Amino acid sequence: MKVLVVGSGGREHSLCWAIAKSPKCSELFCAPGNAGTAALARNLDIEAEDLSGIIGFVKDNAIDFVVVGPEAPLVAGLVDKLDALGVKSFGPTAAGAELEGSKAFTKDLCAKYGIPTADYDRFDEPDAAKEYIRTHGAPIVVKADGLAAGKGVIICRNVNEAYAAVDQIMIEEAFGNAGTEIVVEEFLEGEEASFFALVDGESALPLVGAQDHKRAHDGDEGPNTGGMGAYSPAPIVDQAMADRVMAEIIEPTIKGMAAEGRPFKGVLYAGLMIDDAGPKLIEYNTRFGDPECQVMMMRLKSDVLEVLLACAEGRLAKTKLKWRDDVAMTVVMAAKGYPGKYKKGTEIKGLGAADAVDGVVVFHAGTAAGPDGTVIANGGRVLGVTAIGKDVPEARARAYEAVDLIDWPEGFCRRDIGWRAIKR
Ligand code: AMP
Ligand code: GLY
Repeated sequence: MKVLVVGSGGREHSLCWAIAKSPKCSELFCAPGNAGTAALARNLDIEAEDLSGIIGFVKDNAIDFVVVGPEAPLVAGLVDKLDALGVKSFGPTAAGAELEGSKAFTKDLCAKYGIPTADYDRFDEPDAAKEYIRTHGAPIVVKADGLAAGKGVIICRNVNEAYAAVDQIMIEEAFGNAGTEIVVEEFLEGEEASFFALVDGESALPLVGAQDHKRAHDGDEGPNTGGMGAYSPAPIVDQAMADRVMAEIIEPTIKGMAAEGRPFKGVLYAGLMIDDAGPKLIEYNTRFGDPECQVMMMRLKSDVLEVLLACAEGRLAKTKLKWRDDVAMTVVMAAKGYPGKYKKGTEIKGLGAADAVDGVVVFHAGTAAGPDGTVIANGGRVLGVTAIGKDVPEARARAYEAVDLIDWPEGFCRRDIGWRAIKR
């Protein structure tokens, strides 16, 4: 079967790595991919957001199955276009991806179907939002409705900060069109966790837990990023909690989406806040997390292509997943300055030595092929050094052994990935 993976990050490299192992995969393509996917797949000179470019390639090359990594092409309707062509794909339609594309849509769905989440209201003009803030008080959270590359959420400690957040999003248009509408919601206390389930429209299959590290620097300091590291399993979501999340959040979402005429297919990635009362939904993403996907692919024993196909074909009720018991950990290496300004084009050496460490795979994110077989940095998050081990200390020792073999003075990483699991 001819498979196309859409995207260019560490998530997509890990998907290519896992899919390439499937005996079902005869040819693998990645649009546009990176220097890592080039070793496993044929990279295409087509950007992930170039829907017509992707559709043209799929038609001309009789692609059998398309796996969509990032949210932008999902929200823009790539899966709808593939459906119209009769080509199978993994990922939600635009109507399904609305769960990530519009926070207001998701909050309304939660209200209608009794899914626990922070109290909220939605606003399309600033004065009414400020009136709501004045009556509810702080702390309070102001969110741009649409996609804002993970930056559209402002946690406000006092009412003046919240007024300023409303102005920043709605008047200064800091997130462009994403802020035409906003959600203002209650500040939730508790411990954050992520939960992932595959969904085929009707049935859901929970995946293993994975914990991300969102802040740029050690000790969870510094600005929010796309994710600086991850590990799996995540001790905070035990079996009892996973059962509750399925029953109270995931299942009602699937039923609600089907009832709304938007049957959801793909991955539901739930951001949760857990306290003594139980789990509450903070937000949904409708794709694999990055770098959470890397640790999951490292632990998955089942044929991933079979699993993603079962999801696309509505066969999840009959699908079982097999996982390695081991712990997987990813340490992200980013260009100095990320998530702010950073340099591209610097050379990365030592990748071979790092990859040769026992239990280690170096997934590429923002990399490109340089002259004479060199690899150069081509983005903010550049590598996802991923290791498997019998426990957190072993996985962590291996990951950092590999990190230390990588010779890239212009890069940095957090040195404390997994600290919560170790503290427990
Ligand atoms: P989101 O993009 O919605 O996941 O929000 C980014 C981060 O903001 C989350 O990971 C939480 O740490 C925080 N956050 C979002 N909403 C809330 C809330 N209602 N209460 C507390 N923290 C929140
Ligand atoms: N690692 C967070 C995300 O993929 O959104």
